[in-house]
Amino acid sequence: MRTQVGIVGGGPAGLLLSHLLHLQGIESVVLERRSRRTLETEIRAGVLEQGTADLLERTGLGERMRREGSVHRGINLQFGGRRERVDFEDLVGRSITIYGQHEVVKDLIKARLEAGGEVYFEAPAVSISDLESENPKVRFEKDGEQEELVCDFVVGADGFHGVSRRSVPEGTLREYERFYPFGWFGILVEAPPSTEELIYTNHERGFALISTRSPRIQRMYFQCDPHEDPDAWSEERIWEEMQARVALDGWRLVEGPIIEKNVVAMRSYVAEPMRHGRLFLAGDAAHIVPPTGAKGMNLAASDVRVLARALGEYYARGSEELIERYSEVCLRRVWKASRFSWWMTSMLHRFPGDDPFQIRLQIAELDYVTGSRAASESLAENYTGLPFDPEFEEVLGGEEYLSEPHTGSR
Ligand code: PHB
Repeated sequence: MRTQVGIVGGGPAGLLLSHLLHLQGIESVVLERRSRRTLETEIRAGVLEQGTADLLERTGLGERMRREGSVHRGINLQFGGRRERVDFEDLVGRSITIYGQHEVVKDLIKARLEAGGEVYFEAPAVSISDLESENPKVRFEKDGEQEELVCDFVVGADGFHGVSRRSVPEGTLREYERFYPFGWFGILVEAPPSTEELIYTNHERGFALISTRSPRIQRMYFQCDPHEDPDAWSEERIWEEMQARVALDGWRLVEGPIIEKNVVAMRSYVAEPMRHGRLFLAGDAAHIVPPTGAKGMNLAASDVRVLARALGEYYARGSEELIERYSEVCLRRVWKASRFSWWMTSMLHRFPGDDPFQIRLQIAELDYVTGSRAASESLAENYTGLPFDPEFEEVLGGEEYLSEPHTGSR
């Protein structure tokens, strides 16, 4: 088999890249280890930065998102018995869209298949080779057979544990890592929303977050031991803990049946550079952020936006300039998102060994962030999504496949 761009991984990064390449007339094959059903049902992230939502919209993927997603114009920070709103619309004139990652994936799969795109499910990549040649190869399995895909370029969008990053020769990547000594216990609840916008809570019992998925399904998290066993938590015990952390005078969460629970570990990780020869790493294959800043899926989208532009220039004009700059352009933004995610995490969680001085500093920080326009503007700017460096924003402006931006509500 032969294609122009071999994409390892059919999550948001891989599928969106395949879509953006298709819009420029560039052929790709997506190889995904999991089944279509798993991809379309697995509960993951849910916050789209304004730029991510706009990109989906402007490449013809916005219809269901507009109907079923919900635009939030701010978030709430709760601490010391107070709940303070940060008004994104007022501060930076931008907003976020709540729309589950698996819904984005559903829309992408549908668009790719309708356009005749090649997406192979249950087709795990086994190895990637000849990265330094002009014909890198991906070996993969399909229906019990070994197959080989010969490409001009390979994109590793197969997540943190995928084979792509491990295919780069030992000693080539610099890795930067931080573990956080806690996890998030996540639940999916069948109940109406308790709040119009997200609530991030700093509480003496630990962090809690109230989010949503739809008018009927709510998503909530509380800080826990990273090795916590979800089955050790009855519904009753979970509600007691959630209510203890988020209730305010006269306000309680609306409870309902818990239809899913899971524990996620928290870490920060960045691999540099994000390219080796003709292999590009994108999304979680290259970097992981703790979920507190809601940046994971958004970084995946911005990586592939840059990559689609770079490959577009290569195929249209034979120019390798943007290919050469891919890693540097992405990493500047990745590190800023890593900083923001680390900062939100540090400000909102209880850390082992926190002394009363440290806790007072956290509260003062939250008080400052919600009380000072300069500080809350910084939060709003980061949360709704930072631009690329100005010079690259100009280059991105030439994306011919983007339709006119929608004006109005967003
Ligand atoms: C979610 O809705 O799953 C969610 C929202 C905000 C976060 C993380 C996760 O920071």
